[in-house]
Amino acid sequence: MKVLLGISSSIAVFKSIDILRGLLKEGVEVQCVMTKNSAHLISPLTLEIISGKRVIIDLFEKRERSDILHIEITKDADLLLVAPATANIIAKFANGIADDALSTIFLASRSPVLIAPAMHTQMYLHPVTQKNIEKLKSIGVEFIGPYEGELASGERGIGRMAEPEEIVEKAVRMIMKKTLKGKKFLVTAGPTYERIDPVRIITNPSSGKMGYALAEEILRRGGDVILISGPTHLQPPIGADIIMVESTEEMKNEVIKNLEKVDAVIMASAPADFKPKISLSQKAKKESIQYLELERTPDILEEIKERKGKKLVVGFSAETSDVVENAKKKMISKGMDVVVANDVSKKGIGFGSDLNEVIIIDREERILSTGIKRKKEIAKIILDFIEKKLSN
Ligand SMILES: Cc1cc2nc3c(=O)[nH]c(=O)nc-3n(C[C@H](O)[C@H](O)[C@H](O)COP(=O)(O)O)c2cc1C
Repeated sequence: MKVLLGISSSIAVFKSIDILRGLLKEGVEVQCVMTKNSAHLISPLTLEIISGKRVIIDLFEKRERSDILHIEITKDADLLLVAPATANIIAKFANGIADDALSTIFLASRSPVLIAPAMHTQMYLHPVTQKNIEKLKSIGVEFIGPYEGELASGERGIGRMAEPEEIVEKAVRMIMKKTLKGKKFLVTAGPTYERIDPVRIITNPSSGKMGYALAEEILRRGGDVILISGPTHLQPPIGADIIMVESTEEMKNEVIKNLEKVDAVIMASAPADFKPKISLSQKAKKESIQYLELERTPDILEEIKERKGKKLVVGFSAETSDVVENAKKKMISKGMDVVVANDVSKKGIGFGSDLNEVIIIDREERILSTGIKRKKEIAKIILDFIEKKLSN
C-alpha cells in the first residue's frame, strides 16, 4: 500500500509528522510531497528521516533518474492524502492550476484523493473556498473535517484539522481491499458491571481492546459492525453501530435483538458471570454487608446457540490450563464454529494489555497459533481466519 502525503503551509503542519508515523505503523509506504511554503513551517529533513525517503518539493530539481517525476510517482500510488490542506492548495486543485509539485501531482494522479483542510474560520467559510470544496467533492474527492475547535489564532471556530488518528484511519480504510463488503458482524466487547449498590460493582479487568480492534478491522475491510460494548474507556471505532450496555442481562438482550441482522457473531466480551441476588438502590453502609449472595448471570453463548441458524459464531475462551482441550470442549458445548483461546495465566498479555497471544480453533480441527502480538495484529489474523470460513 502506497500513499502520497501532500503537505501544505497551514500552521497545523506539525501534525503531519503524526500522520506520517501513523501510516508507517500501519505498514503503508509513504512518499511526502511538500509545498515550498510548508518548508518554512516544518523542516523537510524531519519528514525525510521519519519516512526514509527524499521529500518531493520541486519538480525541477536535479535528480539521478530521468523519468518524469509527477507521472512516475502517481503510477503505483493507492491514495493521495493532503493533510494539512490550505485554502490555497484546495483552490489550485479545484481550478486545475499546476504550478508546483503538489498541485501538478494532484492533476496527474488517478488514485483516490483525501483532503484534510486546516484554516482559519474566515478562510474556510469564504464563499470561494466553499465553492472550491464543493467542486472537488462533485468529482469524487473525499474530505475529512475540518471541525469546530481551538484555532492557531487562539479563537474557536470551524477550521481545525481532523486529528491525525482519524485521518490515518480514514486513509487506511480508503486503501484497504473491501474483502468483507456486504457482510454484517455483531461484535461484543469489554466487561459488564453487576451492581451491588450505586457505588459498588462486580466486574473483571477486561479492557474491551480486543473487541474494539476486531470491530475496527472489520470496518477497514468494508464490513458492517454492530458493536455491543460494556463500559470501557476506549474511543468507539468510527462507522460502527455502537450499543453501550452495563450488565450481562442488558448485553444478552441487545445480542438477541440484533442477532437477526448479522452474518456472523464475535463474542469478544467478558461478561460478569455472577451478580448479587439483590442489587441495592441506596448505598449500603459497609458494616451492614456481612456477605453477598450471588446468582448466575445469563449465558449469552447459550442464548445464541438456540437462535444461531446458519450464522458463524466465534467465541473467546479464557483458560488457565489445558488451553486447547478446554477451548475445544467449550466450542462444542456452546455451539460455536470457531473458538479463540487464550491462556490468561500468562503475565503481561491478555486482560487489559495491548498484547495478546491466542490459539484459533475451528470444528474442522484447524488450529492456528498467533504468538504474542499487538491486539490489532491479532484481530487481523482472526479475521483472515473468519473470512476464509465465510467464503466457503
Ligand atoms: C504562520 C502561518 C500560518 C498559516 N496557516 C494557514 C492555515 O492554517 N490555513 C491556510 O489555508 N493558510 C494558512 N496560512 C497561509 C498560507 O501559508 C498561504 O496562503 C500560502 O500561500 C499557502 O501556500 P501553499 O498552499 O503552497 O502551502 C498560514 C500562513 C502563515 C504565515
